[in-house]
Amino acid sequence: MGKIKCAVVGVGNCFAGLVQGIEYYKQHPEQQVIGVMHPVMGNYSIHDIDFVAAFDVDSKKVGTKLSDAVYAEPNKVKWVPELSTMQDVTVMQSPQLDGVGHYVEKVVMPVPQKPIEDLRKEAIRELKDKKVEILVSYLPVGSEAATKFWAQVCLDAKIGFVNCMPSFIASVPEWAKKFEESQIPIIGDDIKGQVGATIVHRTLANLCDQRGTKIEKTYQINVGGNTDFLSMKEQDRLQSKKISKTESVQSQLSQRLPDENIYVGPSDFIPFLSNTKLMFMRIEGRMWANIPYNMEVRLEVDDKANSAGIVIDAIRYCKIALDRKIGGPLIGPSAWLMKHPPKQFKDAQARQMAEDFEKGN
Ligand SMILES: NC(=O)c1ccc[n+]([C@@H]2O[C@H](COP(=O)([O-])OP(=O)(O)OC[C@H]3O[C@@H](n4cnc5c(N)ncnc54)[C@H](O)[C@@H]3O)[C@@H](O)[C@H]2O)c1
Repeated sequence: MGKIKCAVVGVGNCFAGLVQGIEYYKQHPEQQVIGVMHPVMGNYSIHDIDFVAAFDVDSKKVGTKLSDAVYAEPNKVKWVPELSTMQDVTVMQSPQLDGVGHYVEKVVMPVPQKPIEDLRKEAIRELKDKKVEILVSYLPVGSEAATKFWAQVCLDAKIGFVNCMPSFIASVPEWAKKFEESQIPIIGDDIKGQVGATIVHRTLANLCDQRGTKIEKTYQINVGGNTDFLSMKEQDRLQSKKISKTESVQSQLSQRLPDENIYVGPSDFIPFLSNTKLMFMRIEGRMWANIPYNMEVRLEVDDKANSAGIVIDAIRYCKIALDRKIGGPLIGPSAWLMKHPPKQFKDAQARQMAEDFEKGN
């Protein structure tokens, strides 16, 4: 099978983690590829993913080689000293729209803006010239307008879309319909980390539920020190992220918890944590004879390793759909890989659906 030609919008920490991970395995061929569910999927290995175009707004990234932009501040991922790929890819300008929030203004310095229609034409030309098949969006939380811009660019350029961030496209019926009618695959929305806060919380909530206890209250608090967490200090940008994370947990319960008894959210920015994310979760409930119980979990992960291991599969599911000429939201892969898919399933079922999709069933 050939390479998977991809483009990225948002050359931030998540993207840095994705491509530095691929480089890490390239430099250590003797090592087993861990941290990914499928070393090979549909005949595509992790080394078949090729980023041939990129878009950002930061003056430290736009106009530079993609292999260098990955290391530009405020990115913090430095797992390998340099990249052997993407040296011939120049980062192009994306429209800023609502991409740069109040708190990140001091660390992301946007280039002077060009008219949006010029940027749209340049983007479509670049995607066509480079024969891009899939666009991966790592736009910041709260970039509603920028996400819609890039979703429309995917439709216009006729390329697949992997929406890793929590502005809803795949899970909004009007957008889903547009992708379906254009026969373009989309996986979204909002990556569910490999062993991240969401999947751990969902799994334990589902366990308590299925074992017959009654969950009465639950919370999940997350803190971190990268630009993603800095952006999330701005409550107005957070609405869809909170919906995405909360509904992901609610969907695993046989009875919804009243809103006042569930709190799930990114909660603060602690600069020295950098890409380390800490999650604190608590479930309170009752079991036989109305006797109370509770549990607490503390999870510490590198936020970027946690997301890259999933995106690497999302890209390949999207490519398989393109090969098979399947368009619209990919229901099984989205349910398994994303927090806010078009349709929620229990994780075991979602996994089975994703596996069945890969096998062509
Ligand atoms: N575990 C995870 O890391 C995880 C999980 C789920 C979802 N996500 C989401 O993935 C997204 C990316 O996360 P990140 O840590 O890489 O963020 P980041 O802040 O490190 O990177 C965002 C990048 O987007 C660029 N940008 C800002 N506005 C833009 C615009 N209008 N057009 C193009 N580029 C623009 C910034 O310059 C920066 O390079 C976030 O929305 C995050 O919530 C991450």
